[in-house]
Amino acid sequence: MCGIVGYCGRRAAAPILLAGLKKLEYRGYDSAGVAVLNGTAFAVVRRAGRVSGLDGAASLMGNAGIGHTRWATHGAPSERNAHPHVWGDYAVVHNGIVENEHALKAECLARGEEFLSETDSEIVAHLLAREAGDPLVALRNVCARLEGSYALAVLCARTPGTVYCARRGSPLIVGRGKDGLYAASDAPAIATEAEELYALRDGEFAVLAGEEARIFNGELAAVSGDRIVCAAADDAPALDGFNHYMRKEMSEIPAVFARSLTDFAENSEFCKVLCQTEYIQIAACGTAYHSGLCAKFAIERFCRIPAETYIASEYRYLDPIVKENTLFLAVSQSGETADTLAAARLAAERGAVVVAVTNVAYSSLTRIARFTLLTQAGREIAVAATKSFNAQLALLYSLTAALARQRGRLAADPSALAPILSDALARSEETRAWTPFFAGARGAYFIGRGADHAVALEGSLKLKEVSYLPGEGYPAGELKHGTLALIDDKTPVVALAFSERLAEKTMNAVREVAARGAKVFLITCFEELCARKGVFRSLLLPPCEEAYSPAVSVLPLQALAYYVALARGNDPDKPRHLAKSVTVE
Ligand code: F6R
Repeated sequence: MCGIVGYCGRRAAAPILLAGLKKLEYRGYDSAGVAVLNGTAFAVVRRAGRVSGLDGAASLMGNAGIGHTRWATHGAPSERNAHPHVWGDYAVVHNGIVENEHALKAECLARGEEFLSETDSEIVAHLLAREAGDPLVALRNVCARLEGSYALAVLCARTPGTVYCARRGSPLIVGRGKDGLYAASDAPAIATEAEELYALRDGEFAVLAGEEARIFNGELAAVSGDRIVCAAADDAPALDGFNHYMRKEMSEIPAVFARSLTDFAENSEFCKVLCQTEYIQIAACGTAYHSGLCAKFAIERFCRIPAETYIASEYRYLDPIVKENTLFLAVSQSGETADTLAAARLAAERGAVVVAVTNVAYSSLTRIARFTLLTQAGREIAVAATKSFNAQLALLYSLTAALARQRGRLAADPSALAPILSDALARSEETRAWTPFFAGARGAYFIGRGADHAVALEGSLKLKEVSYLPGEGYPAGELKHGTLALIDDKTPVVALAFSERLAEKTMNAVREVAARGAKVFLITCFEELCARKGVFRSLLLPPCEEAYSPAVSVLPLQALAYYVALARGNDPDKPRHLAKSVTVE
């Protein structure tokens, strides 16, 4: 969450900061700001809203600066809470959470200092201003007092032309280009300018000045950086005729799925680990958690290995039991989700073999994991995850098939799904005609059993995040134990039936909700179910291997969410209150 950019060098800082911030808006877009050091004076522009609203910022004079695009944690998205925060000689941008905010703030207030914002981040500027001497030492001393996580970029009015950086828990990349030195929360923001990029490790500091980006450890001894490779990226890749990235990214799913299928070389070190695996734990957040849930069904079905999927923010505080020969799959598109990173660290500490399943080769997760399996989704710009979900499924299903082979068991070949997806994608457009029944509804239910339930959860998450309608994914058999009381003629119910074994059971729930007035929208691969009593509308998708069906059945749910968002006048690419990369706890 929150995007940071820093620059010092031969060029004017402000246009570079603004260009970098635009590329980082996926990390938060509720307010933004830049501070430029011109001589020994700060020029600051901050605003509520997006980076494009920073009027006047582009013309700020000065060759060193820092910028920030915010996802509010402390205090409303407003100009006064927007970063950078200036106090005394220091201007600060921060990504993360200062968990001992109250104690530190009380200390500053007791000294008679006034706070100009409601943020936790402003404390850092106050504490720095109190330290005399070298700003790097000051930053080290202040960081030692902070609990929680941070990526910080700092200017000091006493040292023109210099940007100071620190990282613990939140990502920060520094880089060197021919015209200057750069810092950013994510490499693509500076990759067009900086030829050499280094990811700061937790506890490291950097000083960008002159020709050099110097990196220091916690004792302030110079260290060589952790060099990363990242291709330059546009801030706005072509929409190729689509109106939104979400829709464009959905259209890429068949290709992304096919690309993400992976052949695991027999005899590789990874396959040897698979051979020894007796338990599987999967931890992730949001959509990635749902892909983990889908994988659990496939793994248990084909490999008969106990697999458990955990919400990463819960796992980290569960005191989890990690048995010998546990394979831990940390699934994360960004590879930067704070809760997933913490869960992976804990699993590693407890002896699990940690595997990163991620879309970003240089992400923090890959540094924790013993093995990295890369999904091939390409860059996902829309905040709502669509193609990355299918990419994760392709990889996790490939892993399932490899694991089954290692144990001499038969598993269906996930590559058989690839040709089905284009057809299913085209048919999913039919959900557009369903939008009038959802756009004005009080909320919607998504029901299914087994893997269909995992997809129901994903469908309800998609609907919530882009349409702002309450949606709930529910096990079809569980409704009658209480939740049925909420069903009436204003609650559309989407029912999923892709399991031959469970479809009739799901149809029982369809009849029950229809009897209470609900309009049922059935999505299935069994034609005979479409004409059943109680079904209001149906969508027939091509038949596919049941254990892998989530890759197919999720498509109409993504489309439905997209079209309902449009019908309600929302921007599906940048839903309110959200950010693409959740780097705070
Ligand atoms: C939903 C969505 C989020 C992410 C979640 C995890 O559309 O995008 O729920 O799936 O924040 O993000 P990653 O996969 O980057 O760890």
